[in-house]
Amino acid sequence: MSTVNQYDSIPNNVDLSSDKKLQRALEKWQPDFLKWWTDMGPEGFQQDQVYLRTAISADNDGWAHFDYVKMPDYRWGIFLTDPEPDRKIGFGDFAAEPAWQQVPGEHRNVLKRLIVTQGDTEPASVEQQRLLGKTAPSLYDLRNLFQVNVEEGRHLWAMVYLLHSYFGRDGREEAEALLDRRSGNPDRPRILGAFNEPVEDWLSFYMFTYFTDRDGKYQLLSLAESGFDPLARTCRFMLTEEAHHMFVGETGVLRVVQRACELMKEDPNENPRARGGVDLPMVQRYLNQWFSVSLDLFGGEISSNAANYFAAGLKGRAQEQKKYEDHVVLDAVYGVPTLEGDRFVTQDVPMRNAMNTVLRDAYVEDCQRGVDKWNKAIEEAGFSYRLSLPHVAFHRAIGIYADQPVTPDGKLIAREEWDRRRDEWLPTPADYEYVRSLMMPVYEPGRIANWIAPPSKGIKGLPFEFEYVKL
Ligand SMILES: [Fe+2]
Ligand SMILES: [Fe+2]
Repeated sequence: MSTVNQYDSIPNNVDLSSDKKLQRALEKWQPDFLKWWTDMGPEGFQQDQVYLRTAISADNDGWAHFDYVKMPDYRWGIFLTDPEPDRKIGFGDFAAEPAWQQVPGEHRNVLKRLIVTQGDTEPASVEQQRLLGKTAPSLYDLRNLFQVNVEEGRHLWAMVYLLHSYFGRDGREEAEALLDRRSGNPDRPRILGAFNEPVEDWLSFYMFTYFTDRDGKYQLLSLAESGFDPLARTCRFMLTEEAHHMFVGETGVLRVVQRACELMKEDPNENPRARGGVDLPMVQRYLNQWFSVSLDLFGGEISSNAANYFAAGLKGRAQEQKKYEDHVVLDAVYGVPTLEGDRFVTQDVPMRNAMNTVLRDAYVEDCQRGVDKWNKAIEEAGFSYRLSLPHVAFHRAIGIYADQPVTPDGKLIAREEWDRRRDEWLPTPADYEYVRSLMMPVYEPGRIANWIAPPSKGIKGLPFEFEYVKL
């Protein structure tokens, strides 16, 4: 098992102190990171004690330590899962050859691009969420927001470690650029669309952590299979932390839904909005928005880039080793629903070219689980309304469905009709305004805003009433 150097200026399990040059480079980047965190991290709470989880190793049990910490003092560390002895490349044209411990020259640029693109999403989400603390519905939620934020910061460290260790000078330049781009900034935006969308209310935050963090999970799952071993080991450990982010999203939406049902029970003839809640059709519109922008993150449905990443052994399918038998995939095809005229027909695409769709379909299936739980809560409350994932072609900006006027139930309609009906399907300025009007902070331990139900349990066995943030 790798040793953890908890008392180094950068906690790590990669024996950083044995590589002085690398250690110096990272120690030089560290103050720039902290400056970015101070400027762009959660605004207004940097001096408060927050009950946070900190990764202290990559062991299956006991990898996390919980305690109060001021966020700028958080110990952002570098942790990779332990190497598998004699690991082989698991798929593609080099399957069964030894996994790469150094960057293979012919794949250097592609690999760097993959790491930078993943890395860019981490600080982007912190920037998107930086004002949310001011309107947290409870101290429990406030703490969860900050937990997600510091861990996205650690994920940035994880990617920067790879850039510094394996990509020399241009890796270091990319690491600087990761601190320089800004979410939503027209001149130097973050790389991917969903990470430039504003996250200005807590319903958006829960949708983001449910749908957009889950895209992150699937990208990490595919990179966790990579033939470039340090990347695989880095992503495997990141997945451990990522699970909590999606839990925050899933239970967050669930609690909004539960509260809507409670308010509807109080007066079934009245919209829950009349009692300061969020109504279920509004939840559906938010869901449509965040699901569709998150689907765009998977890239084109039919993609020669995706085929190349797979062929090169850089990016596999989710659970490539566990779930599949054929890891070369030269003869297989995959059905991709494609528009022909105004109908969807399934087109058989060579599977390597459909890898983005394969990954996306696994993601959609995973997304459905939460929707089922939300619907179960509505059903148990005695109401007939149901939430649903829109069709994959709805409201897309990237890939084969980009800009096609498709309805949430998958019908291609005239552009004018789509434009006319847009407000039935996606949040309107009035929706956002209403939801924002509900966003009043509740900072007393044990209390919660009126528009959301309390969680069924607290963090780490603690009650909901615990003082998760000392303000
Ligand atoms: Fe992350
Ligand atoms: Fe995340």
